[in-house]
Amino acid sequence: MSDKSIYILAIESSCDDTGAAILNHNEVLSNVIANQEIHTQYGGVVPELASRAHQQNIVPVVAQALQKAQIKKEQLTAIAVTQGPGLMGSLLVGMSFAKSLAMALNIPLLAINHMQAHVLAHFIKDNEQKTPSFPFLCLTISGGHTQIVKVKDYFDFEVLGQTTDDAVGEAFDKSAKILGLDYPGGPFIDKYAQLGNPKAFKFPNPKTKNPIDFSFSGLKTAILYFIQKQVKLNPNFIKENRNDLYASIQHTIVTILMTKLSLAVAQTGIKQVAIAGGVSANSGIRKALLQTEKEKAWQCFIPKYAYTTDNAAMIGIAGYYAFLQGNFAQNSSISKARMPL
Ligand code: KG4
Ligand code: ZN
Repeated sequence: MSDKSIYILAIESSCDDTGAAILNHNEVLSNVIANQEIHTQYGGVVPELASRAHQQNIVPVVAQALQKAQIKKEQLTAIAVTQGPGLMGSLLVGMSFAKSLAMALNIPLLAINHMQAHVLAHFIKDNEQKTPSFPFLCLTISGGHTQIVKVKDYFDFEVLGQTTDDAVGEAFDKSAKILGLDYPGGPFIDKYAQLGNPKAFKFPNPKTKNPIDFSFSGLKTAILYFIQKQVKLNPNFIKENRNDLYASIQHTIVTILMTKLSLAVAQTGIKQVAIAGGVSANSGIRKALLQTEKEKAWQCFIPKYAYTTDNAAMIGIAGYYAFLQGNFAQNSSISKARMPL
């Protein structure tokens, strides 16, 4: 089989976004995503509703990905699908669909770890983006995960630090909820933080036993108590201080992330630093990273926005490397709600 003919259909359905992408080699031909608006009114993802919406979306999303890439399903070489971690009901929809289609087309199935895929998104071919070389550090920050990993090879990861409670995306979203914002509030905080004073309010930086681990539940509680106290004194407190609150919360979170990252660089001596995951779209962390790159001679890798939040292109690139390694899934492969790196 000539290298040119490698077309991978990738499917992502680990949480509340249904994604399908087509890759030729390491190049993205199409990357389609259907976001599920239904969860906004509940203030978070409702697993039952998410799996139902995946069932509704998966066929049209895959059809659209094929159409945009101008590829017929008979041309596909393999199908990559998120195996885990994620919501079981959501994962099952993607896995069952991918397995059936792979069987029908008689092509291999590639079972992909969602968190590895976030990191491997850095290897998507894009002339504007530079690619890290091994080993590098990756701060993977999303709604479900917060990790600093040493990436030794495409599928060789060592977790140096991780959250002991909430993920950083949850810290953004839960703070946003306290301030009356819809789910997910992270992008909203980011947008309006830019209009506020990041030093207006000071929030704690919770301590962890392993200095490279993270803890965000204490921060969330501190923000809640602070707001409750201020609102008692002045019912208009949130309204009058909105942008300063957003800016201060974001500044606190970004400072925590950058402190841990600096410790990991000092500990490993590795100065190639990447960020990945939904929260890597945050302008505060992007700015802080570029600043540190200048000051400390790091080499930083910041993904394109399309490859930060959940997407199928990242599953496709991980699938491409799995395919090259001959790492195919069995017919008996199962979805995994928990899945180590
Ligand atoms: O990677 P992702 O799409 O899904 C998971 O695998 O969890 O990450 C979603 C998370 C949400 O918590 C969302 O609020 C956060 O990423 N997020 C942001 C921004 N964009 C997305 N947080 C802060 N600033 C942003 N610009
Ligand atoms: Zn994710």
